[in-house]
Amino acid sequence: MTTENNQKIRKLADWLTESQNTIAFTGAGMSTESGIPDFRSDKGLWTKTDPMEVATVEAMSRRYDLFHEFYSLRIKNVQHAEPHAGHKVLAEWENKGKLTAIATQNVDRYHHKSGSKNVYELHGALENIRCIDHGHSATTDEFLNQQTCARCGSLLRPGVVLFGEMLPQNTWTQALNLIQQSELLLIIGTSLKVHPVNQLPSMAKGRVVLINRENIEGTYHFDLTLSGSAGEILQATDQMIQGESE
Ligand code: APR
Repeated sequence: MTTENNQKIRKLADWLTESQNTIAFTGAGMSTESGIPDFRSDKGLWTKTDPMEVATVEAMSRRYDLFHEFYSLRIKNVQHAEPHAGHKVLAEWENKGKLTAIATQNVDRYHHKSGSKNVYELHGALENIRCIDHGHSATTDEFLNQQTCARCGSLLRPGVVLFGEMLPQNTWTQALNLIQQSELLLIIGTSLKVHPVNQLPSMAKGRVVLINRENIEGTYHFDLTLSGSAGEILQATDQMIQGESE
């Protein structure tokens, strides 16, 4: 950990201890240390696959074979990996009352799997399989085995928000309210490239902290920026907080 980051971690630990209402806002960079690729880093999914070919409603109907292959791979990636220590730190902070909720763009459910309870999934979840025609629920195995809906025979899809689709309205409204009322917003592992979720940070009324490997393009204001790996920074911050409370 660089000296510069050490001083910043000290400040982050202080702000976390002071804040009565902290929200975490996470992106794909939160899961890369679990082995799940992100989208726009140099090894990201969108550097190998054109999202317009696999992650739109039109692609789902026009080329269901490519759509199915892409999402089957992502589901298997998530099934064969697991949350890392950084996910567990956020879950512990919630448990200790240091973190109110997590708004996430991620669809891997790793926040739930590591024990977080108050999670708002702005882009849905891979494991929420449903049929395309009527929304009848189905299992990931039925999707992976290319089965059709047991009730109506329709093709199956994961319950993730595809490009061009509306976000889940209630989830959006709840996450927006939480962020607007937050005293401290932790933005972790996101390029903030995707609308409308990239509008959320500017709606925060309190301090905004960025924890990200790369710099963020755009006119965002961060009160503190920590460049590095989410898992490493979250664990170091937690150790700093633990050290104080002993
Ligand atoms: N620690 C911190 N930051 C990381 C780490 C890490 N271990 N790994 C990657 N990052 C950073 C990258 O540098 C990048 O800036 O996380 C960011 C991930 O950005 P994207 O790949 O664009 O992912 P995200 O912002 O979540 O994408 C948003 O785009 O395609 C859609 O629906 C998809 O939800 C996704 C949305």
